Amino acid sequence: MQIHRVQELFKQSPVGQRIAVCGWVRTRRDAKNNFSFLEINDGSCLKNLQVIADGALENYETDVKKLGTGSSVRVEGVVVASQGKEQAIEIKAERVHVYGFSPEDFPLQKKRHGFDYLRTIGHLRPRTNTFGAVTRIRHTLSMAVHDFFRSRGFFYVQTPIITANDCEGAGEMFQVTTLDLDKPPRTPEGKIDYARDFFGRRTSLTVSGQLEGETYAMALGNIYTFGPTFRAENSNTTRHLAEFWMIEPEMAFADLDHNAFIAEEFLKHVIRAVLEQNQDDLHLLDSFVQKGLKESLQNIVAGPFARMTYTEAVEILEKSGQKFEYPAKWGSSLQTEHERYLTEVHLKRPVILTDYPKDFTAFYMRLNDDKKTVRNMDVLVPQIGEIIGGSQREERYDVLLERMQEAGLKPEDYAFYLDLRKYGTAPHAGFGLGFERLVLLCTGMGNIRDVIPFPRTPGHCEF
Ligand code: 4AD
Ligand code: MG
Repeated sequence: MQIHRVQELFKQSPVGQRIAVCGWVRTRRDAKNNFSFLEINDGSCLKNLQVIADGALENYETDVKKLGTGSSVRVEGVVVASQGKEQAIEIKAERVHVYGFSPEDFPLQKKRHGFDYLRTIGHLRPRTNTFGAVTRIRHTLSMAVHDFFRSRGFFYVQTPIITANDCEGAGEMFQVTTLDLDKPPRTPEGKIDYARDFFGRRTSLTVSGQLEGETYAMALGNIYTFGPTFRAENSNTTRHLAEFWMIEPEMAFADLDHNAFIAEEFLKHVIRAVLEQNQDDLHLLDSFVQKGLKESLQNIVAGPFARMTYTEAVEILEKSGQKFEYPAKWGSSLQTEHERYLTEVHLKRPVILTDYPKDFTAFYMRLNDDKKTVRNMDVLVPQIGEIIGGSQREERYDVLLERMQEAGLKPEDYAFYLDLRKYGTAPHAGFGLGFERLVLLCTGMGNIRDVIPFPRTPGHCEF
């Protein structure tokens, strides 16, 4: 018999049909007159399916009455209309097959557990309601990302994970090597001889697919990447991971205004997908994780994002009369507290900040005529702060070369990147969306470690 998914059964309500479902027992209640209720969850949706297991089942005493939370079963039976208010249908079991019992020490007994504790059982936490909901929302977002770009004619390009360049020029890279770290080969000068490493040169895990993405944008027009990126920054915050996923579109013949327009459309599109496709999951998170979550997402899609320059934002922060831990001042980077003040208190909506000082921004951002600021943007949202970073790229060969030298990068390491400016250069722009920050926003979860299946942070790499 075909196995049905619980989500489909609730959608179709095939009352009277014989069906089979497989899943994990969430609870078992034994009624007085020799039958039991089983709540089964198969992960397809938040809701459990109620099964009525009658004492007449051949294995009722031997198996059914031993089913504890976490056990896995296959139930065959008839769909009946439910008496209870909670759900429209339930299953009257004709057969209950047990795949695996789950003893009483199963850590997820029916009570609420703290996220800190659940992080210590990362292999079992997907079986909780919250992590099921987060995982399904993450899935909806992934699919919506591809939908958005496909519907606008962007090509999906896979950029490499192992790379020989440092896109952000920040030196926060994990090295990739097969050299024996106890006795690495040395050059005559006593330095490590990377010519004898696996790739014949020094390599790392990528911090961003942007530079490789640009090479394809300069041939195919509009492209995007969606892949894992790695940062060896020692940031122990609720917003930083050492391994995270990033979506990076890159558009030829585009300026920063167009970039900002696409970023706003894109964010609204993927949030709308969650509002439409994950109503039960959102309801759960709104009730138990972040009150007002749904409304705040509806607000984001309802109106236009604010726009202002970095300079205007700093003026607002200076005049705000707020006591910040770090006072805002022109020339230093904005802290999360500043970003949150702007979006949550001052504007009460997302904002796209543009034209930051060049001194703390990446070498590839297009220099403005004032020679002090660059044509970049950060999209800031309530609760999170920065969710997107992007820019119009420096397309002028000489200016780019100078910016690289200022940043202490060796132009010969970026020859391919300079070639794009030498042969048929064109204005172009793009941005990077931190996928886990998006999942934080759409789930109301407070810690980025709880929106990626297996978080990697300084000092932590389980599994
Ligand atoms: O602002 P970032 O560093 O920009 C870039 O990497 C550009 N190359 C993007 C581009 O223009 N193609 O990173 C982009 C986004 C940030 O806005 C943030 O959402 C996320 O990536 N991000 C992180 N997310 C989780 N953990 C970290 N350690 C992150 N660092 C950046
Ligand atoms: Mg940034």
